[in-house]
Amino acid sequence: MKLKDTALQMQKNAYAPYSNFKVGAAIKSTNGYIFGGANVENAAYPEGTCAEAGAIASMISAGERRIKEVYVVANCTRPVPPCGGCRQKLVEFGTPDVVVTLATLEGREKTTTLLELLPGAFTPEHLDGEK
Ligand code: THU
Repeated sequence: MKLKDTALQMQKNAYAPYSNFKVGAAIKSTNGYIFGGANVENAAYPEGTCAEAGAIASMISAGERRIKEVYVVANCTRPVPPCGGCRQKLVEFGTPDVVVTLATLEGREKTTTLLELLPGAFTPEHLDGEK
């Protein structure tokens, strides 16, 4: 399945009864595998998780480590911008040039990069002893 199709499938499966804002994300790893995630909300609101976080968890759980490309889609009028926390999570596993496509269900798309989404990011390289 292609990256976009996976994200759309995930979006359908999102559990968002509180916000009604259903998000699907798909990540292609540098080895060419595709992983998906959806937002999963909770009656205890802060316990909800974002679609991007789900896709990252799926990629890492499968043993993949590096992101090649990202696609995020939501039921909104403008292409959905990832939240600040998800930008940081994505940067952990991707280089600044990774292409991130943000989309609506109607097919509007905005293409950006991890660098544009989080300039000046704090990365593992900033930690002492991390190579
Ligand atoms: N959400 C995501 O899953 N990803 C984003 O990039 C933006 C926000 C979710 C979190 C919450 O379940 C709902 O959208 C409304 O904020």
